[in-house]
Amino acid sequence: MTGETAAVSSNDHIPIMVSELLTAFEPVQIKVFYDGTLGAGGHAAQILEAHPEIERYIGVDRDTGALAIAKKTLKPWSGKVDFVHGNFSDLDSHLTERGIDAVDGFFLT
Ligand SMILES: C[S@@+](CC[C@H](N)C(=O)[O-])C[C@H]1O[C@@H](n2cnc3c(N)ncnc32)[C@H](O)[C@@H]1O
Repeated sequence: MTGETAAVSSNDHIPIMVSELLTAFEPVQIKVFYDGTLGAGGHAAQILEAHPEIERYIGVDRDTGALAIAKKTLKPWSGKVDFVHGNFSDLDSHLTERGIDAVDGFFLT
């Protein structure tokens, strides 16, 4: 893992399928959410806004530049978000390291 891949900026990245995402999770009470492609944090902001009941949002990205932008985007929820530099293929260890054995929501896009 290099930690530096394509640049993602909050200005040039518009999250796709936001209404579909919100509709899919609308009936779900979410405590823990795993977002394996956090990017600039646009989707995460939408989910966190719509689900104030979320206690923990695990946001993973392999690109440190994207994580830096996401930290700014998600500042209002910084107390709930774990910013993880890594690969979503390591989902199991990301959860195990945090003592989490199940998530209520999962997202990759
Ligand atoms: C389309 S963007 C994500 C958009 C994001 N959901 C948002 O709202 O801004 C895709 C992101 O996935 C990350 N990514 C791609 N493959 C990954 C992997 N295997 N593990 C972790 N991050 C990955 C990229 O670095 C990029 O930031």
